[in-house]
Amino acid sequence: MNTFDLERLLLAAWPARETTSLHGWTVLTDGGVTGRPNAVSPLAFHGKLGEAIAAVQSHYTARHMRPTFRIARGACAPVDLPEVLISHGWKPTQETLVMTAPLADALSRLPSVEGVVLSETCPPAVDAIIRETSASAVEYEERRGLALRTPHPRAFAMIGDSDNAQAIGLSVIVEGQAAVFLMRTHPAHRRKGLARRVLAGLLGWARNNGATGAFLQVEADNKPAVSLYEAAAFKSVYSYDYWREETIP
Ligand SMILES: CC(C)(COP(=O)(O)OP(=O)(O)OC[C@H]1O[C@@H](n2cnc3c(N)ncnc32)[C@H](O)[C@@H]1OP(=O)(O)O)[C@@H](O)C(=O)NCCC(=O)NCCS
Repeated sequence: MNTFDLERLLLAAWPARETTSLHGWTVLTDGGVTGRPNAVSPLAFHGKLGEAIAAVQSHYTARHMRPTFRIARGACAPVDLPEVLISHGWKPTQETLVMTAPLADALSRLPSVEGVVLSETCPPAVDAIIRETSASAVEYEERRGLALRTPHPRAFAMIGDSDNAQAIGLSVIVEGQAAVFLMRTHPAHRRKGLARRVLAGLLGWARNNGATGAFLQVEADNKPAVSLYEAAAFKSVYSYDYWREETIP
């Protein structure tokens, strides 16, 4: 699967509240807090570049949001967009890896699933972890909305009891590929193998529901998470950055 295909799957698996098109670019708008659903995904393009960039600036500033592009290395239209943005004072930040694994390889590296509860709807204990790990009420609302908007088939996974989750995750199958989101272990329960079990639960569910591969995104400097995924046979296939105008000091 090439980078353009993976980017399209990513957009389908994690839909923003509003998706519009500007000059062929996909413009995502949500609560303005997290990265992916509040950025332009430039996968196809027509028209004049200067006008298109100005239209993006107007779109976000009208909503009191910072204009942002999310540009995948190796899948960007037009190809000279990064160069043009640099010349206008935009900068890339927050490098994020896209990692993939064949399900058979990942499952052969993961433990057998014990105590992982799967559910198509978001259990209250999972919702509570999303709230506790969000920095603000607005961030919680955005993350919760995104999780509830994910397409089916999907599975929320948790370890814990109905009042108190220790670790959670979410998988969504799009076109036979399992996207993995929301991997979180409560700080008091880290490094006990819980995330590894959650991942095993999600990927086992995905295989039973017809998926053959898995993909996920992780910030390049998130060493614990990158180690977790590498140990489960995931490999980085490309990365993307968020591009924003440098603020004047
Ligand atoms: C990433 C996260 C989910 C890992 O949860 P966890 O339950 O502590 O992970 P596990 O105990 O199952 O660890 C499995 C493997 O991951 C790697 N790992 C986990 N935490 C690590 C750390 N702090 N440093 C290095 N490697 C780490 C190790 O390879 C570990 O295996 P080992 O303990 O046998 O060496 C957890 O740190 C977390 O919730 N972080 C904040 C949210 C986040 O960043 N989520 C990922 C978004 S992509």
